[in-house]
Amino acid sequence: MLKSYKNKKKILVTGGAGYIGSHTCIELLNTGYDVLILDNFSNSSTSVIKNIKKISKTRINYIQCDLRDLADTKSILKKYKPEAVIHFAALKSVIESVRKPYHYFSNNVSGMINLLGAMEYSGVKNIIFSSSCTVYGKQNNFPVDEKCSLNQAQNPYAHSKQICEKLIQDMCNYNDFKAVILRYFNPIGAHSSALIGENPIGIPDNLAPFITRTAHKIYKELTVFGNDYKTPDGTCIRDYIHVVDLAKAHVKSLDYLLNKQEKFTIDVFNLGTGKGVSVLEVIREFERCTGVKINYKFGPRRKGDLPVMYANPAKANKLLNWKTELALKEMLVSAWKWELRNCKREFSFRNYYE
Ligand code: NAD
Ligand code: WQD
Repeated sequence: MLKSYKNKKKILVTGGAGYIGSHTCIELLNTGYDVLILDNFSNSSTSVIKNIKKISKTRINYIQCDLRDLADTKSILKKYKPEAVIHFAALKSVIESVRKPYHYFSNNVSGMINLLGAMEYSGVKNIIFSSSCTVYGKQNNFPVDEKCSLNQAQNPYAHSKQICEKLIQDMCNYNDFKAVILRYFNPIGAHSSALIGENPIGIPDNLAPFITRTAHKIYKELTVFGNDYKTPDGTCIRDYIHVVDLAKAHVKSLDYLLNKQEKFTIDVFNLGTGKGVSVLEVIREFERCTGVKINYKFGPRRKGDLPVMYANPAKANKLLNWKTELALKEMLVSAWKWELRNCKREFSFRNYYE
C-alpha cells in the first residue's frame, strides 16, 4: 500500500530521475514532501520512477519535459506551484563538454535561464541548485572553502556551472529570489536497496563506475591516470561522498531555505567529507571490502585533471546541521551491489576493449 500525504509542501525536482536526483527524491518523500519530477529522460528512464516508488512506498508524480521548452516549463510551474525547485537537470560529462561546448551551453545554461523565467512567471522564488567543486578551478590551498575565488573554468561544463551560479545570484540580488547553491565534490555509491544508482551510458568518465565495471569484467583493465603527481602515492586526491549523504543534504538545505528565520538571499555550501583520498586508496579499499581484485595499470595523466581537490565542509556542517555519515567502504560496497544488480548492458559496451 502506497503512503500518501495531504497538505504536504510541494517540491519540483528537475532531473529527478537522474543519479543524484533520484536519491534525493527518496529522502524528500521520506521526510513528507510532495514531489513532482520534471525530466526529459535524456540520461535516465521511467524505470527509475518505479524504483523510487518501490523504495519509498510513496506516490510520486513525474512529467516528461525538456527545460529548453520555455512554454512547457512555464505551464508546469504555474500549474504545480511548488514551494521550491531543486534543479539537478543538466549534462555532466567534462569530456563530452569539450567536444560539444554548444550542447552544454544550450542544455545547461539555456535550461537554467528558462527555469528562472518560468519561476518568475509563476511566482516561485526558492531554488536549490546543483553546482560542482569544478567551479573552483585550479587552487593552491586545500581544503577549499566557499570563500575561495572561482578561478578560470577548465572546460565548458565547469563554465556552464559558473554561469548558472551567477544567473541565480542576480535573480537573488535584483528579483527577490532565495537560493541555496550546493557545490558537490565527488558523489559515488548507490542506494542500499541497489534499486537505484549511477548508470552512465557508454564508457564512464568517472572512476567509481569504471572500477565496478572492471571488477565485473566488462572492461579488461582500469587505467590510473598518472602516478607522478606530488601526492603521497603519486595519484590524484579527491573528496568522495556517498550519494545518500549528498541527498540528505538537500533536505537540510530545503529546511534552511524555507524555514530559516534570518533574512538571507543566497548561500553557498560545499558538500564533501573533508577527507582527501587517492585513486590507489580507492582501488585498494574496493578490493579489501568486496574481495574482488581490480586489474589496473598506470597510464599518462588525464588532461585537465587537478592533482588535489577536497572540501572544507564546515559551513554546511554548521549552518545546515548536516554532516556525512557513510564511509568510503559503504560507498564502494553499495556501488558494487548496484553494479551486480544492474548488469544488463548493451553488447557493444561489453566488447569495447576486446
Ligand atoms: P544525471 O545525468 O544522472 O541526472 C541529470 C538528469 O537531468 C537526467 O535524468 C537527465 O535526463 C535530466 N536532464 C538533462 N538535461 C535536461 C533538460 N534539458 N531538461 C530536463 N531534464 C534534463 O546527473 P547527476 O549525476 O544526477 O547530476 C545531477 C546534477 O548534479 C547535475 O546538474 C550535475 O551537473 C551536478 N553534479 C554532478 C556531479 C556528479 O559527479 N554526478 C558532481 C557535481 C555536480
Ligand atoms: C577521479 C579521479 C582521475 C577515471 C569529475 C568532474 C567534476 C565533478 C565530479 C561534476 C581522478 C582518476 C578516473 C579512470 C582514473 N562532476 N581516474 N581512471 O575528475 O575528480 O571530477 O566528477 O560536476 O566536475 O570533473 O572525477 O571520477 O572522473 O576522477 O585514474 O578511468 O580518478 O584522474 O584523479 P573528477 P573522476
